[in-house]
Amino acid sequence: MKNLFTIIDNNTSYTLGKYHNNQIIYDFNNTLEYLEVKGKQRFGEHFRIYKEDHNLIYKLMIYTIKDKTSCTANGINLNKGILLTGPVGCGKTTLMQLLPYIHPQTRPYGLFPTRNIVIEYNTNGSDTINKYSALRTMCFDDLGAEPTGRYYGHDSNVMAEILVSRYDLSQGQSSKQNKQTHLTSNLNAHEIEERYGERVRSRLREMVNVIAFPASSPDKRS
Ligand SMILES: Nc1ncnc2c1ncn2[C@@H]1O[C@H](COP(=O)(O)OP(=O)(O)OP(=O)(O)O)[C@@H](O)[C@H]1O
Ligand SMILES: [Mg+2]
Repeated sequence: MKNLFTIIDNNTSYTLGKYHNNQIIYDFNNTLEYLEVKGKQRFGEHFRIYKEDHNLIYKLMIYTIKDKTSCTANGINLNKGILLTGPVGCGKTTLMQLLPYIHPQTRPYGLFPTRNIVIEYNTNGSDTINKYSALRTMCFDDLGAEPTGRYYGHDSNVMAEILVSRYDLSQGQSSKQNKQTHLTSNLNAHEIEERYGERVRSRLREMVNVIAFPASSPDKRS
């Protein structure tokens, strides 16, 4: 059929949905199947989509494909990024790497572990803050896991500086130009405020949609 939306991967074609009035209407179950295929490809045969995660993956999916109606119905703002929170090993980093594959039209974002950013900062100082403040969509992995930065004997809360700086730079950009900040974290919103202060927390509220794994989510590390 001509109007199917299909992704060809490793010589196999996967139908994720169909075109309707120039828009793609995604089929949730087909898209989940493709995510599982992609997950096995990237992370190994043990990868599978857990039924308990369907609801959360659905939210990430409607965000990724920019389904405005479903996002509005679920309280998700497409102009903001995603803060994906949850306990250790529940699959946050994995999902942030996988989701872009279902929407090849948008450029995938870089995923940067916050620990590596601080290590870079300790060598390069404010150049690192500038680099990660650039107006490009980026995902900072494991917010809260990084140590305090130290450059020439001067301590710095590097991720706080980057987040505030990205916030400032995003002001005055039209929503079209808007480049998102995505984050994964073991910390919940309250803990983020404790660690980064009210200034960061308040800006984050404007910058991200919080999507949270339940605190009871099991560790998927075998
Ligand atoms: N759906 C899944 N099926 C099977 N294994 C998975 C799945 N999701 C993640 N894993 C595996 O579980 C481990 C943890 O996943 P991941 O790193 O994404 O978790 P995380 O939530 O980012 O953890 P952390 O809080 O420690 O950063 C990895 O080895 C990953 O391959
Ligand atoms: Mg992680």
